[in-house]
Amino acid sequence: MNDSNLPKIFVTRQMAEKELDRLRSVAQVEVWPDSLPPSREILLQKVAGCDAMLTLLSDRIDEQVLDAAGASLKVVSNYAVGYNNIDVEAAKQRGIRVGNTPDVLTDATADLAVTLMFAATRRVNEASDQVKNGQWTTWEPNGLLGKELAGRTLGVIGMGRIGKAFAQRMVGGWNMRLVYTSRTEQADVNGSLNGLRVELDELLSQSDFISVHVALCDATREMLNEETFAKMKDGVVLVNTARGEIIDQDALVDALDSEKVFAAGLDVTTPEPLDHNHPLVQHPRTIILPHIGSATDCSRLAMAEIAVDNILAGLEGKPLRCEVNA
Ligand code: DGY
Repeated sequence: MNDSNLPKIFVTRQMAEKELDRLRSVAQVEVWPDSLPPSREILLQKVAGCDAMLTLLSDRIDEQVLDAAGASLKVVSNYAVGYNNIDVEAAKQRGIRVGNTPDVLTDATADLAVTLMFAATRRVNEASDQVKNGQWTTWEPNGLLGKELAGRTLGVIGMGRIGKAFAQRMVGGWNMRLVYTSRTEQADVNGSLNGLRVELDELLSQSDFISVHVALCDATREMLNEETFAKMKDGVVLVNTARGEIIDQDALVDALDSEKVFAAGLDVTTPEPLDHNHPLVQHPRTIILPHIGSATDCSRLAMAEIAVDNILAGLEGKPLRCEVNA
């Protein structure tokens, strides 16, 4: 078959070659070669006439992009479990399938939430900076005091796959008391982790440690704000590995300054990347990571495999392996 008869796929970033080769065997594939995302203008050009797109969470796929692709577009496969970067409704209206990559990054992201919880709680960043900056002068009884997690109350906002994996680690490992919010009662969490489903206000007032695991949507955007921070216990530790927009960052800076929030560990921010001079980055009791929740070799490879499977199914007009608008 002449190459020009093959379907066209635009892939917005380099990823596992082995998986991209599976696309190359059935399609003309263009992979954006830079490590930075294509500009909006370039994205609009590149998608024109495509049958499929393989996108990242940093690519905004809205009506304009879908229309720029045109009637040939059958599938948008997002290389992430979250898909708040995609206008799923607009895709649905145009008969375009949308795929994501759930499950395979659950352990990696839960592990990172644990890492951030401990790093923030024990002021690891601040302590390490002291060593790096030549400020380690002596051993002090009152120096760099953190908190202990064992036996304290953990609040998990959003008990999906990652929230559950995180709760299992913390309750199993440190015998924490668990309260959580969820749209539905989670019998397994109530049973094996002795969890208690509560309203958000109750979670905020009871928890010593809080971790955010909800998807970003209108209902969760800036759900942690001046008003909800005020409802938290004094000296709480906050972790977010979900999406930056769930937290009002100015309110978090104020809460850190007043020590309402003792420390925060964030893998996600608004925007990404967050300027290194931002008060959250510069605050001594924060640890901010560049959105690396799923960044393990096996997670990223498995994400590429699902993303490619989703495209291959979509090109054949079949339901995707992981479809978000099914
Ligand atoms: C996701 O998949 O949504 C994460 O935020 C990045 O892996």
